[in-house]
Amino acid sequence: MFHLPFVLDEMTLEDIPAIMSIERRVFTSMWTSGIYRRELTANPWSHYRVLRSRQATLPPILAYGGVWQMDKSAHIPTIATHPEYQGKGLGGFLLLHLLLLGESLGCTEATLEVRASNLPAQKLYRRYGFEVVGIRYRYYNDNGEDALIMTRATLVQEEIEAELAQLRPKLQQHWQAALQKHPPIME
Ligand SMILES: CC(C)(COP(=O)(O)OP(=O)(O)OC[C@H]1O[C@@H](n2cnc3c(N)ncnc32)[C@H](O)[C@@H]1OP(=O)(O)O)[C@@H](O)C(=O)NCCC(=O)NCCS
Repeated sequence: MFHLPFVLDEMTLEDIPAIMSIERRVFTSMWTSGIYRRELTANPWSHYRVLRSRQATLPPILAYGGVWQMDKSAHIPTIATHPEYQGKGLGGFLLLHLLLLGESLGCTEATLEVRASNLPAQKLYRRYGFEVVGIRYRYYNDNGEDALIMTRATLVQEEIEAELAQLRPKLQQHWQAALQKHPPIME
């Protein structure tokens, strides 16, 4: 049986250098390592997870993201997948686990903001039940771009687990093929 070459794990301070190397490549306006340090040590409402590689030939962190517990709302402040490993189901897998985490914290809905131009991320969010509920005009300082506010109206454990079960065969197929066809990339 094929085992996925990564595990879901808590983000730690030691992960920050690997996260920064992804952050630099995928975001135009990136978070600093200081922001991550503060999030991990001084924000009692934040919870961060990583998809940690189980294979020495893959990058140590394949994806990462977080949840802020904001009363009944699970806010997703950031999520990203290593640029060489996007489109292989990691973003969906991680997002669903962040939603499960939010649900376990007592949240009943999930929210996030996304750049109006970020169509891959919007596709991911729509795929997992988020809808646009508003716009924050000129929200991003770097280019004055609007943010779409997206919400998933319900967080029900059984439903999220069913979505994960549906994703799993696709994830296995993607990864089995990816590891056979392409030599893993070293960091
Ligand atoms: C958004 C992001 C996290 C998605 O991660 P991922 O690991 O590629 O996601 P998945 O493989 O689970 O893909 C989820 C859906 O998005 C689609 N998708 C993923 N990457 C895509 C791309 N580059 N272009 C178009 N669609 C894409 C997939 O086709 C998939 O749809 P499907 O399930 O209907 O096939 C990733 O693209 C990323 O890290 N982007 C840069 C950082 C970022 O913008 N983060 C979000 C900030 S709000």
